[in-house]
Amino acid sequence: MSEKPVDSLSEGEAADELKQLAAEIAEHDRRYHTEDAPTITDAEYDALRRRNLAIEERFPDLVREDSPTRRVGAPPAEGFTKVRHAVPMLSLAKAYTDQDVADFIERGRRFFDRDKDLDIAFTAEPKIDGLSASLRYESGVFVQGATRGDGTVGEDITANLKTIADIPKKLQGSGWPEIIEIRGEVYMTYAEFEALKQRSAAVGGQDYVNPRNTAAGSLRQKDPSVTASRNLKFFAYAWGYTTADPAPTQFDSVQKFKEWGFKVSPLMVRAKSIDDLIAHYHRIEEQRSSLGYDIDGVVYKVDQLELQRRWGFVTGEPRWAVAHKFPAEQAMTTVERIDIQVGRTGTLAPVARLAPVTVGGVVVENVTLHNEDYIKGFDSNGQPIRDGIDVRIGDMVVIQRAGDVIPQIVSVVIDKRPANAVPYGFPHTCPVCGSPATREINEKTGKEDSRRRCTGEMICAAQAVERLRHFVSRGALDIEGLGAENIDLFFNSGLVKTAADIFTLKDRRPAVTRALAERREEQARLREEASGKARKNVRSVEERNYEGLDKLFSAIDARREPELDRFIFALGIRHIGETTAAVLARQFSTIEELIRIGKETAKAEDPHSVFPSINGIGDTVINALRDFFGNERNDDVLDALLAQVHPKPYVMEISAGSEVSGKTVVFTGSLEKMTRSEAKAMAERLGAKVAGSVSAKTDLVVAGPGAGSKLKVASDLGIEVIDEDTWLQRIGRGG
Ligand code: IVH
Repeated sequence: MSEKPVDSLSEGEAADELKQLAAEIAEHDRRYHTEDAPTITDAEYDALRRRNLAIEERFPDLVREDSPTRRVGAPPAEGFTKVRHAVPMLSLAKAYTDQDVADFIERGRRFFDRDKDLDIAFTAEPKIDGLSASLRYESGVFVQGATRGDGTVGEDITANLKTIADIPKKLQGSGWPEIIEIRGEVYMTYAEFEALKQRSAAVGGQDYVNPRNTAAGSLRQKDPSVTASRNLKFFAYAWGYTTADPAPTQFDSVQKFKEWGFKVSPLMVRAKSIDDLIAHYHRIEEQRSSLGYDIDGVVYKVDQLELQRRWGFVTGEPRWAVAHKFPAEQAMTTVERIDIQVGRTGTLAPVARLAPVTVGGVVVENVTLHNEDYIKGFDSNGQPIRDGIDVRIGDMVVIQRAGDVIPQIVSVVIDKRPANAVPYGFPHTCPVCGSPATREINEKTGKEDSRRRCTGEMICAAQAVERLRHFVSRGALDIEGLGAENIDLFFNSGLVKTAADIFTLKDRRPAVTRALAERREEQARLREEASGKARKNVRSVEERNYEGLDKLFSAIDARREPELDRFIFALGIRHIGETTAAVLARQFSTIEELIRIGKETAKAEDPHSVFPSINGIGDTVINALRDFFGNERNDDVLDALLAQVHPKPYVMEISAGSEVSGKTVVFTGSLEKMTRSEAKAMAERLGAKVAGSVSAKTDLVVAGPGAGSKLKVASDLGIEVIDEDTWLQRIGRGG
């Protein structure tokens, strides 16, 4: 496995590594499941899967047909094992007003009345809005982790908790009890939540409603590598069973946790008076919106453990602690309209436009309605969905700012629903370009995607810039000097609307010069403003671009006859990454043929009656081709493009002189440097015949790791067997 951070991988490197990981993981799966003889540890195996997932999340277009994440049925999915907590996991009494807090303190004073000199201290710390977990350490080693469950019995989620970086596998420092259950909160930051939403949107994955539910879902994954990819966090704030008190006070115990390697809230203080507690409550409230994660109050606890023990518990709650909740920042308003926004990847996102209302000091006018099912309140099978809400235009709704930041609808005031309010009809066409908007079926799960997407791939203005950027990117047409920045400029100044326009830029030289000059001016002005100094005569990047216009135009001209696979990839058809594009190029040889088959497939009732069965091309790709070529609006764009660009027909370079020409070759076992279909194509290009099984007619067997019975047949028949490297050398591709 490569050590290189995923963030710094180039697309080519990522593709290579994904290929290698797919082969490697498949081989380990086979050793584990079929042979019962794994050759690596579970941790090493998990690391491979995590790496694979991380790369796929960063390069969603590179997800392979044979990706380990697409394979189903490896470990059987079943519930988690139940764990009985040695000491129950409690909840907290709640306080809503300063008076409630005063009452809490007064109750304490009265309870300890016999002990008038007693100096009760309290801790105050944020109440994190996540999920509590209990982590059992024996001799300093993390041995078991569980959810709260009903407080008495939770679920064993050890493997998932082990993926959380904030949770030490071994305690650091010294002085920890022989056995201790550390308790605290697992949570997800807003940044991580937003990033996950975006990654998910890019691959047409599920939608996520809020960080807390997402953290909960992430913790209950059967595959810990999924949990790992969610970058959950953990704060330690309490403990359950222990063989010794960490320290004599709550505050010092938590400081110990920090020494042992846990993250603890930096906002925890020790205070003596109600005024100090309330003051700290307001300090935390002020910082609430800048913490980057949800909190919903402040927890006060008696500091001295001795006093905690004396004061004791009522049913399910300690008497010595209370959660001072933040006032719910809610308000009522009406839904005036529901608008559909089209994202850069074509997702239709519904937004409720509200009569403006102030919630916690901020005016809220818009609130996301997430997706079609959320608005209906149930999914396409008629099942009510979690967090779903039946919102209609005209409805009165209760709005809340979750975690003080993201506004959301909490509920609909059904009593106030206008008599004529009808369920919202989610559009089935894109409001930006008019193309059909569809919901894909996830081949893995068989479920309908919660998002509806515009199929107007090339013609949808909402998706245009993203597509143009893709068109000129490295694996696609790879036009030198035409990066994302220039694409943005040309798009925004109206010079390039579709890919074809790139090739006519040269004819509009004065306008291009003007756009570049204007940007140069603008940037110089900004620099001046920023530095406060008068303009210096520096050569900016833009200036060089501007002077290098001829170079840009010739770079564009140089790509007028691209390789067919690059061209297909550049079209940006959903699910068609570089590998699939290459397979299609090989299969159809010319763009005209691909278009012809694509259109016929789109028209056919049964796509399989037209589209040939091709190794490595499944229904997802076929459906994507149908959507693309079936959309007449794409025709004009494609025609205009093909008037400018002439993709080279794909030719098999059959070299008769090659050493393997005319020979019959069989590949067996897993190949490490190429996929099966690539190996086959390469051999065929060199004039070899590739067979699926070994027979007397076989001339050569290329065997990778895991080769089975075919090897034996080959040796019985006395056929030459070589490994992948030798094969590559023999065909002149080695070392
Ligand atoms: S102490 C014996 N401290 O709130 C007291 N709980 O309503 C045990 N929570 O289930 C809890 N932040 O999930 C404590 N700083 C904090 C907390 C906290 C969040 C959650 C926890 C618990 C719930 C109780």
